[in-house]
Amino acid sequence: MTQTLPNYALGASDQEIARLDGQAASIEAPTRLFLRAAGIEPGMRVLDLGTGLGHVARLVAELVGPEGQVVGIDTSARLLEVARERAHEYPQVTFVQGDVRTWRDPAPFDAVVGRLILFHLPDAGNVLHHQLGALRPGGVMLMLDFDLGSSRAEPAVPLVTQTLEWVMAAFRSAGASPVVGTRLALLLAEAGLADVQTFGVQGYLAPGDPRGPALLGGVVRSMAPQIVAAGIATPEQIGIETLSQRIAAAVQTTGCAVLPPALAGAWGRRTL
Ligand SMILES: C[S@@+](CC[C@H](N)C(=O)[O-])C[C@H]1O[C@@H](n2cnc3c(N)ncnc32)[C@H](O)[C@@H]1O
Repeated sequence: MTQTLPNYALGASDQEIARLDGQAASIEAPTRLFLRAAGIEPGMRVLDLGTGLGHVARLVAELVGPEGQVVGIDTSARLLEVARERAHEYPQVTFVQGDVRTWRDPAPFDAVVGRLILFHLPDAGNVLHHQLGALRPGGVMLMLDFDLGSSRAEPAVPLVTQTLEWVMAAFRSAGASPVVGTRLALLLAEAGLADVQTFGVQGYLAPGDPRGPALLGGVVRSMAPQIVAAGIATPEQIGIETLSQRIAAAVQTTGCAVLPPALAGAWGRRTL
């Protein structure tokens, strides 16, 4: 049975768009690595699930070239509007409003990709099973997602640990799966994909690198309404206006590395 999340937990505000851009920049290199490892090639017709601002769709467009085709689907009209504006240099890319649980194009795809989409779907297995039907026989499905459980400061810093606990609890309370990256290979195999392969990539940010505190503060800012509504922490405990600065100060004082969540990738082929 298909479950639905009440709302995509992160919304589509300007602030969320800026956060998605920062996040996409931080995982662009591993995403390229996974797209190549999964065999995305010139001329392919590729579906991008939960395309958001189209970051993955544009990377795929570079790989499939002018002879290829990319279709990005998302439920958010606002994000798709921005995605269309940004992809005007890629005539091979189109964006369609649709739900990954039900959307179907009559023409088959050579590949179906999805980055940071299963994270938000409690019914990930059903979605993959549905999307298997979008592939031609021999086509490849590639899923990329976070393992938030791998994120930490090393050595540990209480404020970073606390922040990550809030984020993990907020995603879970919204029905999301913050460690779904650990299960991608299993989910693909259960959905019927064959020859499934998987690995993960994690960054190690130096104490003075502003990206660690910005990443943590940014996701808490986006999740704050959910954190408060679910009774996980109060606005006073979060102190959002100073959170990033306090994390930066604590990280510098401790001299710790900040490990953002590992990006896991798994891919497999449709056999029949
Ligand atoms: C974290 S964003 C990831 C965007 C993009 N894939 C990336 O990696 O930059 C998740 C996206 O999934 C979309 N989304 C959530 N649930 C969806 C659904 N059921 N069908 C289609 N899109 C969905 C959201 O609107 C959002 O754009």
